[in-house]
Amino acid sequence: MPLRLMSWMKLFSAAIVIAALLYKIREKSMAESPMPELDPDPWWGPGEREKGDDSVRNFKIAISNQDLDDLKARLSLPLRLTPPLENANFTYGMNQNTLKEIVQHWRLKYDWRKREALLNYYPHFMTKIEGLDIHFMRGSAQTKGAKNIKVLPLLLIHGWPGTFVEFYDIMPLLTTPQEDSNVVFEVICPSIPGYGFSQGSAKQGLSHLETAQIFLKLMKRLGYDQFYLQGGDWGSIIATSMATMYPENILGIHLNMFVANSLGPNLKLILGAILPAGIVVSHEDQEKLYPLTEKFGMFARETGYLHIQATKPDTIGAALNQSPVSLAAYIMEKFSSWTHRDNYKEVNGGLLHKHFPIDIDKILDNICIYWFTGSITTSVRYYAENFSPKAVANNLDSIPCRVPSAMSAFPHDLLNQPKNFIAHKFYDIVSYSDQLVGGHFAAMERPKLLARDFHQFVNTVETREN
Ligand SMILES: *[C@@H]1O[C@H](CO)[C@@H](O)[C@H](O)[C@H]1NC(C)=O
Repeated sequence: MPLRLMSWMKLFSAAIVIAALLYKIREKSMAESPMPELDPDPWWGPGEREKGDDSVRNFKIAISNQDLDDLKARLSLPLRLTPPLENANFTYGMNQNTLKEIVQHWRLKYDWRKREALLNYYPHFMTKIEGLDIHFMRGSAQTKGAKNIKVLPLLLIHGWPGTFVEFYDIMPLLTTPQEDSNVVFEVICPSIPGYGFSQGSAKQGLSHLETAQIFLKLMKRLGYDQFYLQGGDWGSIIATSMATMYPENILGIHLNMFVANSLGPNLKLILGAILPAGIVVSHEDQEKLYPLTEKFGMFARETGYLHIQATKPDTIGAALNQSPVSLAAYIMEKFSSWTHRDNYKEVNGGLLHKHFPIDIDKILDNICIYWFTGSITTSVRYYAENFSPKAVANNLDSIPCRVPSAMSAFPHDLLNQPKNFIAHKFYDIVSYSDQLVGGHFAAMERPKLLARDFHQFVNTVETREN
């Protein structure tokens, strides 16, 4: 037998043995990971605990003239930009010629007061939970006289560098009757603590686990004991934590961006790299993970922000909160590189192309929310909390999630695992869709695709249970 074939066969038998062991290992590691125990009533506000106030207050986005003038003044300062290298486009990060164009547009054409009125189209609210003012926006279900339509509550969670601004285009597709769907949603869009109008913690240790508890309390306060979840980015991770820790409260969970970092998927990743396509990782899923060197290269290129935010958030926060131009550079670059994997090679990172999937003014709305609330530092601190030894030790990825689940894989997102990987975490996958287009900011880029996938999932779950 040729040597090459022999070594393949050895690998193949080894793979079968390991694969057979995977199931056992999964069961065992699951059994060994206890559910994290959270303080049921912590105080994240500054100083000592104060008297509780459970009221839900109306809130309007109303930036003061003083703050608006201050932004205009800062945007009018002479720019201190560095000419980009010739033909570099976005390969060195934010191209400063592009930045100059964006700042000019922001200063001269973008009209905050008009945008603010649009952002107030949906009602906003504030309520105090565990010592923090938690903001949320609400999209009310409209059956529009349609018969046999079920109204269901949905908690819709944003990520970084996003805010509730991500959801204006998808909102009407969720709150009004859609073709081939018998459900509409009463949508609650909270701001993660430290993002936008939600107050940041004064105390260390508020990770996605603690956020899950805060958001459950929010939903209960609003009268929802059972509800659906949808999220990408941190929204996906917070939703997963909620569905894992509070399965009795979750009717179903729908995710864009999903990764389970546990033994089973990690072994499969390595085996899949050694073995031919079709054995551990299907032919169709190859593109999601391999070639490994290329994927690791992409990961190294695109995740520097994550390392700095997880380790020195206050340093980068200070640099970004001092200048709207710096803040725009940092956030706009993410919108370029995370909507399409090859955008960094494009002129203007693709941002100013006619076909760029997100309107620049919508990204500026999002940046304005970070700017006016001064929340960039507290938003990046969330990485430090989520990657802290304490948060990581909870190992939630190894605890099974048994609620009905759905994954929507957008091809240009940072990372999505194949179904047989994510199944190590989610035991009841109702649907897994490979989208043909779209990236990380799915709700902004492809609201119709995301909404349709979500409606389909919920309709399946609802008819299954009846
Ligand atoms: C930048 O864009 C131009 C025009 O499309 C292209 O010719 C050039 O190769 C790009 N540079 C890089 C580094 O991809």
